[in-house]
Amino acid sequence: MAIAILAGRDTTEQKQLEWFSTAWRDALLAQNADLDIRVWPNIGNPADIDFLLVWQHPLGILKTFSQAKAIQSLGAGVDHIFIDPDIHPAIPIVRITDPYMANDIVQYVIAYILQHIKLVEHWTEKQHQKIWAKEPPFNLSSKTTGIMGIGYLGSKAAHLLSELGLSVCGWSQSPKNIPGISHFTGESEFNDFLSRSDILVCMLPLTAQTENILNKRTFSQLPRGAYLINIGRGKHLVDEDLIPALDSGQLCGAVLDVFRQEPLPAEHPFWLHPKIHVTPHIASVTNPGTAAPQVYENYLRAISGQELLNQINIKKGY
Ligand code: GLV
Repeated sequence: MAIAILAGRDTTEQKQLEWFSTAWRDALLAQNADLDIRVWPNIGNPADIDFLLVWQHPLGILKTFSQAKAIQSLGAGVDHIFIDPDIHPAIPIVRITDPYMANDIVQYVIAYILQHIKLVEHWTEKQHQKIWAKEPPFNLSSKTTGIMGIGYLGSKAAHLLSELGLSVCGWSQSPKNIPGISHFTGESEFNDFLSRSDILVCMLPLTAQTENILNKRTFSQLPRGAYLINIGRGKHLVDEDLIPALDSGQLCGAVLDVFRQEPLPAEHPFWLHPKIHVTPHIASVTNPGTAAPQVYENYLRAISGQELLNQINIKKGY
């Protein structure tokens, strides 16, 4: 009986993610020092492996683990698993749902919303010019934040922003009831949702329905001068549509943590655009220390044929 950690699509990425694989191995050994944990490519006989821990695994190798009882994503998202065409349809896929990660991502969203609405860059610029510019607007607190994706993470962000006294609305595929939040559901209410969202935050899972959802049509439905924060996936955004929307003033700025190609290539125009903040997919990095207990619990459940925690719906893709 053994667990395999598969992190990194190719040898370069595997090298970059060595710290991540090691942190996971150590965190699981802290749960049970007798576990047999193997890190790709030192897997031994693939038929020994009962449980797969994956983060951007080498594509095409999952089918070699004929005895694997489950695939555990080492992140909140599972799209990085689904792009592998060879996944056995009967094998359950589970994700991490960790309050530590949720706080992390929500803090990121709130940090960038607050720096925007409190005009942090504006006041810093005035300071550098030694200008005591005490004239309105002093802040943009009357702006409404629209959150796309009101799941575990989105609803937490919506709740905390509303606790800060900010106006929040949400949009997702199924109806939700979060006190103090106006909620919009499905395609038919998408434009209404967009028309209220001065700050648009994408926290959606990546699926065939949500791919390319941040496009010029979407931007055109937002109030003029809207602000975009994408912490979903790079493929949610049509890259070529962002810069014209910023240059025309339809959007006044964008915060991007995720990209179609990661690391973001050095020649990509997003790096140096004055209205774009780029962060290297750090809005929420899985913390093995806090997430290991649920992963270990899932391993025990998988090998004893019990129902798994945080199992995703393969049809829906999240
Ligand atoms: C991060 O992007 C994750 O899916 O956990």
